[in-house]
Amino acid sequence: GASGPAAGEKSGERFSSLGFIMSAIGSAIGLGNLWKFPYITGIYGGAAFVLLFIICLIIVGMPVLLAEMAIGRAGRGNASTSFLNLSGSKRWSFFGFLGVFGSFMITSFYSVIAGWTLHYALSSFTGALYKGTDYAVQFQTFTSGYSPIAWQFLILGLSGWVIARGVSGGIEKFNKVLIPALAVVLLILMARALTLPGAGAGIEFFLKPDFSKLTGESALVALGQAFFSMSVGMGVMITYGSYVKKEQSLGKATVAVTGGNLLYALIAGLIVFPTTFSFGLEPAQGPGLVFVVLPAAFSSMPLGAAFGGLFFILLAIAAFTSILSLLEVPVAFAMDRWKWSRLKATSWTTAVCFIVGVPSALSVGGVLSNFKIGGKTVFDSLDFVTSNILLPIGGLVVTLFIAYASKRAMEEAGLKGTLLRVWVFLLRIVIPPLIVLIFLYSVGIIS
Ligand code: PFF
Repeated sequence: GASGPAAGEKSGERFSSLGFIMSAIGSAIGLGNLWKFPYITGIYGGAAFVLLFIICLIIVGMPVLLAEMAIGRAGRGNASTSFLNLSGSKRWSFFGFLGVFGSFMITSFYSVIAGWTLHYALSSFTGALYKGTDYAVQFQTFTSGYSPIAWQFLILGLSGWVIARGVSGGIEKFNKVLIPALAVVLLILMARALTLPGAGAGIEFFLKPDFSKLTGESALVALGQAFFSMSVGMGVMITYGSYVKKEQSLGKATVAVTGGNLLYALIAGLIVFPTTFSFGLEPAQGPGLVFVVLPAAFSSMPLGAAFGGLFFILLAIAAFTSILSLLEVPVAFAMDRWKWSRLKATSWTTAVCFIVGVPSALSVGGVLSNFKIGGKTVFDSLDFVTSNILLPIGGLVVTLFIAYASKRAMEEAGLKGTLLRVWVFLLRIVIPPLIVLIFLYSVGIIS
């Protein structure tokens, strides 16, 4: 019931203030910013799309992020029991459980791409990547073999190792080092990209809006990306929120995470587009953009192997800190629900996630690429179900919970006056219909 001992209190694990901010930024910044954001910006119209994305971040991403943090800290449990602790109702906690399931499933295929980035980093540093010339063929050869499984295993194993060390001794310790390191690498790469001959065309594509390129579809894609990029809808920020000290301002944390997330996405764009344009490559490439287009650019740039290696290391670190947050959701659940030790919960979650993830790794060109579920590969199906179905449902549940079901969680956010009124107005009136819209659109009911 609502008054039972708050799950999660027992372990008493807590973030330091800076540790929480860094870990939440680490969760938000990931392949979504550095890999997906540039390529969808390339497809959906450049600067005008960037502007839409920023609007979605502010009116949807920020309020929902704050809502998740507040539910976590008020409920002091995992993504499922926090709802139970606050409402006493199993129905809410069932919806919370969808996040536990969803973040587990996201990890299983997200780690595939994270593994690719490690392979690309290594083969860029060694120069092996630049021996061949057709990067599309190389990408195809690599992804159709079995080695992606080994890289996926490595990245999941490393994540499990960090998570097993706990919240302050593992998750926050690594984020506090990796996130600033990421900033340094990003700035070096941005300086390189912006000084390439002909970089101006890329900057213009990325920052000078041409509104005639916008469609209804781009608006919905921008909204979906705002969710994914802020790590909301999967219980990640509820789980992290449950480790936040009472004194810390959730409002300030929300602003810091949103700002950091946006900044890193913009810098990623300022690396990818100037580089793409400078070498006369095509920005509307789709998912291959960073794996197929950029190596061509690195190969013909002085010190290209080093810059390329740095770029892929950057992707790997960003993906890694997101995986930490995603895996922590089921780990926290197993610890609360079955009273498992952190080590046991982490070992099982990581191992099962790897096994579940192998078919995804083999479905992007490998032996399972012809195995289709409803016309989609295993990888694409998981991506579709999690990003387009579970994520909007999760976001809607969080929104409605604060807006209509839990005064306690609403107060936990610590907002007052006009800010509070605006936040509640967005959660009650603006955000639910927008989420329903992306949902209907992405499952193909409206088009
Ligand atoms: N926000 C991460 C990214 O942009 O890559 C991905 C992500 C992490 C999505 C955690 C969802 C999530 F719950």
